[in-house]
Amino acid sequence: MSTASLPANPDPSPGPQHIAIIMDGNGRWAKARRLPRVAGHRRGADAVRKIIRGAGELGVPVLTLFAFSTENWTRPADEVSDLMGLLRHYLRNELEELGRNGARLRVIGDRDRLARDIVRDIADAETRTRSNTRIDVNICINYGSRDEILRATRNLARRVAAGEIAADRIDEAAFERELLTAGVPDPDLLIRTSGEQRISNFLLWQCAYAEFVFVDTLWPDFGKEHLEQAIAEFRKRERRYGGVGT
Ligand code: IPE
Ligand code: IPE
Ligand code: MG
Repeated sequence: MSTASLPANPDPSPGPQHIAIIMDGNGRWAKARRLPRVAGHRRGADAVRKIIRGAGELGVPVLTLFAFSTENWTRPADEVSDLMGLLRHYLRNELEELGRNGARLRVIGDRDRLARDIVRDIADAETRTRSNTRIDVNICINYGSRDEILRATRNLARRVAAGEIAADRIDEAAFERELLTAGVPDPDLLIRTSGEQRISNFLLWQCAYAEFVFVDTLWPDFGKEHLEQAIAEFRKRERRYGGVGT
């Protein structure tokens, strides 16, 4: 058969259904411009807006963004306070834009350590975006995967001790129900910006079979075209899940 008789542009590899991003490099972006680190975080928030819109336009159904880790509290108090200020600003001012993008927001992380007004704003933002259906946007704030796994383990141990479930009945599905990401499908593509090639305590359980794409671009410079390139790279990968492939 000649290739001329093939249908035009057959594309057998589906795009990623869930993209997770470690948004890194705000500080270095600012440093390169001799600006304070907070200037990089501000531009980082602009990049978040662009990427949510871009991901929606590219038909990505689920997007998860790592915004603040359980380890980021170790940064200087001023920087933590700037980041919390930006988060407040984001939650209060981005709802219309999220609505325009059909984005349903969910915040993933331990809320106990967050200021009360932020916890309230998170709940409000989740409620007000909950009927949006184009894209699910999960923002990870005070998120750490080891912390998440320990909590899940403690909860299951308590349930076993209370006689609610048998230890032998704890399977992957039961464990996943205890994770902060319960109900969210595993990411199939994990992107990290800024050239670092590590996972930094992000979605350790969930990324068991994610494809990793590391890009040198600093997060404030990351745009829709970079997202498209990462998706193109993902489509070239052969996912084997321990099998022998095709
Ligand atoms: C990512 O940028 C944002 C957060 C972790 C909150 P960084 O602040 O880590 O930027 P670099 O890594 O110092 O350049
Ligand atoms: C990971 O970036 C956390 C977020 C992007 C929120 P970090 O900049 O905190 O990670 P390390 O310290 O370089 O591993
Ligand atoms: Mg960093």
